[in-house]
Amino acid sequence: MCGIIGYTGPLEAPKILLEGLSALEYRGYDSAGIALCMEDSKICLAKKTGKVKNLEEYCKKMISGSAHSGIGHTRWATHGGVTDVNAHPHRAGKVVLIHNGIIENYHALTDRFHLQDRLISQTDSEVAAQTLNELYTGDPLEAIRSLIGLLEGSYSFCIMFEDQPGVIYAIRNISPLVAASTPSGSMLASDLTALIPYTRQYFVVPEQHIVKLTPYKVHVYNLDDTFSKDYPEIMTVNWNMDAAMKNGFPHFMLKEIHEQPEAMRNTILPRVSKGLPCFSDDGIPDHIFENCDQVQIIACGTAMYAGMVARAIMQPVLRIPITVSIASEFRYEEPLIDEKSLVIIISQSGETIDTLAALRLAQKCGSTTLAVVNVKGSTIARESDYVLYTHAGPEIAVASTKAYSVQLAALYMVSCRMALVRKKYTKEQAANFLGELLDVIPAMENVIAQKEHIRDVASHIIQSPDVFFIGRGLDYAFSLEGALKLKEISYIHSEAYAAGELKHGTIALISDQVPVIAIATQQHVYSKTISNIREVKARGAYIILLVKENAVVDENLADLQIRIPDVADHFTVFPIAAALQLIAYYTSLGKHLDVDQPRNLAKSVTVE
Ligand code: AGP
Repeated sequence: MCGIIGYTGPLEAPKILLEGLSALEYRGYDSAGIALCMEDSKICLAKKTGKVKNLEEYCKKMISGSAHSGIGHTRWATHGGVTDVNAHPHRAGKVVLIHNGIIENYHALTDRFHLQDRLISQTDSEVAAQTLNELYTGDPLEAIRSLIGLLEGSYSFCIMFEDQPGVIYAIRNISPLVAASTPSGSMLASDLTALIPYTRQYFVVPEQHIVKLTPYKVHVYNLDDTFSKDYPEIMTVNWNMDAAMKNGFPHFMLKEIHEQPEAMRNTILPRVSKGLPCFSDDGIPDHIFENCDQVQIIACGTAMYAGMVARAIMQPVLRIPITVSIASEFRYEEPLIDEKSLVIIISQSGETIDTLAALRLAQKCGSTTLAVVNVKGSTIARESDYVLYTHAGPEIAVASTKAYSVQLAALYMVSCRMALVRKKYTKEQAANFLGELLDVIPAMENVIAQKEHIRDVASHIIQSPDVFFIGRGLDYAFSLEGALKLKEISYIHSEAYAAGELKHGTIALISDQVPVIAIATQQHVYSKTISNIREVKARGAYIILLVKENAVVDENLADLQIRIPDVADHFTVFPIAAALQLIAYYTSLGKHLDVDQPRNLAKSVTVE
């Protein structure tokens, strides 16, 4: 979950690297550093804990002179604490290296090359740098190839050799890297946000290939030292700069909450044909929906909670087993899937390492894999049998909002298409379902327009140490994501419970004025949920109730209410999600926290 950038060309490297690191900071922001090839060909390092701004101030003081090539890194600590010494880049002799990933056998390498006395940091990355220096005898490609043969784990390395001025090398295994030869010089980065200001054409660095950046060319080598015959596919960025910036909003998260209606339309409308969901332009054939005897949905975090909502929608209609698994658990199980299984992989970034590993395990089991991914050309998208891209645009805030909504939109369309091809829906029923999905978008806009009321609701929980979310059926699935949103950006201990489950222990935690956010949009269990609300109210809970606008509610039941438009039960997740996102956003804002880059987190979890 680190940010990596490299540049070599005619322009001043420090400016390009520092601006690029700011664009990549959402990937991890414990510390940051750059290495520059100065005019005398010496490599100068600057690295500091804290945000990129700290590094910028440090560079102003410490770096003088011109540099036209260099590498930069923002860190999300995995091995070793957050210190200047542990920050990247790491130097070892002529080698200077930055790393994203985890080297699992760094102890063995330390012993094998007797590195103990030479290490000054507590990082696996420095071990990689020292090992590379041991292997380096003047041929970078040969040394990098030898290093790769010794490593176990995930990595993206960006490397400079002090006797190779102006040249940058890189190689990746699982952790993401993109590269481009631009009119401003050659560049590579962990993701596109750092390249967009300079180019719209890029390529994904293929795994187990070495790239060599010279000022006006990016060379790609196979590990057997030959030039790679098939140069990677050049892809075109479909984002614009505005899409990656805040556009006047105070935070990326608020901007992205507001972008949801548009993101939903952009994801749904291109796949509507004659009023029915159609994936032919995505190259997704009906037979993968028609012939499977089970569906396994695998993801992490918010994406996994989207999967839980999808399961609640799909299983009652399709009448086949629909299972949702946490990717980090699934990958170490012996899953009951085979060639008759459809495995749906959900990932905004398309780089989450546990989700990627689960994908690879599913393919090893012979299952058909369909990925629902937001980032074009990401690893999960490229490795899945089929990919259904969501079109939310770049999601920069660490807390996922629009990605969740468009993941659901995509999954609802998959559910509808599956029901149609398996003859569980008539064409009319499928068209009605799709129509209701499109009709729910104005309901989201209605809730987003209530943001000042929701801000007031949030003001009542800002001081609370604990908040509980309860719901039944789909409302329970929604509440899981609501609890995650709140806890990850407000640092309030938030938990979601099936409303009927509270009595089996958790209700012991309900005392006077403990906030309980109750979601009651599902008519078939509405009265049961209201009973559960009364149970916690009887024990002093402060009730925040989310219901449809036409719901009949005793006036003394809830302390506060948020009313959503009266959409069909199956579609309430979309306005409810907007409400829960805004509750979390305004709670975090009210606590003066870093809404877009909350502590300890990173946007894409590319380490185990
Ligand atoms: C959600 O707000 C979090 N940022 C996190 O749970 C995220 O959803 C999870 O890490 C999965 O990421 P992915 O969708 O990129 O795979």
